[in-house]
Amino acid sequence: MSDTQITQHHERALVIDFGSQVTQLIARRLREDGIYCEIHPFNKVDADFLQDYGPKAIILSGGPASVSKTTSPRAADEVFSLGVPVLGICYGEQTMVAQLGGQVENAEHREFGRAEVEVVESNLLFDGVWEPGGTYPVWMSHGDTVVGLPDGFRAIAATPSAPFAAIVNEERSLYATQFHMEVVHTPDGAKLLSNFTRNISGMRGDWTMAAFRDEMIAKIRAQVGEGKVICGLSGGVDSSVAAVLIHEAIGEQLTCVFVDTGLMRAGEADQVVQLFRDSYNIPLIHVEAEDLFLGELAGIEDPERKRKIIGKLFIDVFDEEAKKVGDAKYLAQGTLYPDVIESVSFDGGPSVTIKSHHNVGGLPERMNLKLVEPLRELFKDEVRALGRELGLPEHFVGRHPFPGPGLAIRIPGEVTKEKADLLRKADAIYLDEIIKAGLYNDIWQAFSVLLPVRTVGVMGDERTYDHVLALRAVTSTDGMTADYYPFNHEFLGQTATRIINQVRGVNRVVYDVTSKPPGTIEWE
Ligand code: XMP
Repeated sequence: MSDTQITQHHERALVIDFGSQVTQLIARRLREDGIYCEIHPFNKVDADFLQDYGPKAIILSGGPASVSKTTSPRAADEVFSLGVPVLGICYGEQTMVAQLGGQVENAEHREFGRAEVEVVESNLLFDGVWEPGGTYPVWMSHGDTVVGLPDGFRAIAATPSAPFAAIVNEERSLYATQFHMEVVHTPDGAKLLSNFTRNISGMRGDWTMAAFRDEMIAKIRAQVGEGKVICGLSGGVDSSVAAVLIHEAIGEQLTCVFVDTGLMRAGEADQVVQLFRDSYNIPLIHVEAEDLFLGELAGIEDPERKRKIIGKLFIDVFDEEAKKVGDAKYLAQGTLYPDVIESVSFDGGPSVTIKSHHNVGGLPERMNLKLVEPLRELFKDEVRALGRELGLPEHFVGRHPFPGPGLAIRIPGEVTKEKADLLRKADAIYLDEIIKAGLYNDIWQAFSVLLPVRTVGVMGDERTYDHVLALRAVTSTDGMTADYYPFNHEFLGQTATRIINQVRGVNRVVYDVTSKPPGTIEWE
């Protein structure tokens, strides 16, 4: 079944990607507004593609290239002649102007960051949001600027250095802005996008999780028929939501496998078993593999080797357990949309890089399994919404991400059971303090790292020589970039005291204030 058939019930907007760092945000803003859309690289979108996809609205993203170069990317000419409304954003505006006969130049005054636009006249894009004569904050990021409009266009907003900050050709329903309306720094941006898709393009906004759930259940049934499906549960949101959705579609044909590596967080294994076996009555194989994993990791200090060993063992164990299920033909994975978007390379050239993410990479080839990936079209926040729709408990749906290699990459140096137990205990206290302070949902991910460093302390009248524990908490929207979370000092002091008092073996606690980049979220 093609992707087109999967989403046939929805009206679809199309985002054409020219390589902007924030292209994904266009899709997110649209979907938050109930508009289904997909992102496709500019060099894949030709006349055949457009006909097959059938967009109701088209958005051209920003991008790093300069239209003044002849080699820079262009939209297929059919994009502008289809009769479908088009909105160009930043590079999208520049290429629209250049392709339709206007002029773009390398600007003397480049504009980056916050700017104020003045609205020149009323139009459908600004309707009900911005008034003529008013000035409004927007976010700019461009070196090129439009200096001459193609026939039929006029300016509807301007800044001192960008006289064509927003333009329109009403007759052809072509709109474009120099500013980025998809970022939160353009406070009214989401409303402008909604005006474009709903008022200008006439889209209804029929993308709801209830509709998605029904469609996906039908699709899973059609894909697997009477076949058996196995699903590796990690305890994370994605695999849990995928499993519950698939179970709703095919019931007992699904078997879940949970491999307890001994590198899970406190109580994790129990929670997974309880939720799936007891609450949902989903057949679940619970493999106790702590000895195997910790045995193979003994003496290994290099982070990459640790990851490789864990990945391979996981496949071995899963493979062995899956055989017991007998003639399983399908493997379910919680792959998400950001993992399958083909992104345009940063030089804007035609080469595309495809990031493909396999939770249990290597398995399908080895076992001749076909993949069932019901979340391939969803962003993380949509997966959470789907989890709620499926009735998964809030504490499961809102969980922080947890990496496949588990606590092993939070124990720099050799991993031992003693260290894993110590870390589990300290981490549980840290998370408990965060939950008690009401901060859990403000944080993308919080965890502790047990350092291979001992320092001297004094407890009571005794000298101690124990481990240092680092606390990490970050805010992020997708894990690609992140900032450290600004806890207040009382919180940090109180949490450090509780950990040191309650976890024998830790006598010093530090807080990691590194953003990503230059750091990564995990320590290894
Ligand atoms: P980094 O450390 O690369 O992490 O900034 C970004 C996000 O990815 C998670 N992460 C992983 N998730 N398998 C996973 O399933 C892995 O090997 C892995 N490594 C990192 C990390 O927890 C963060 O959310």
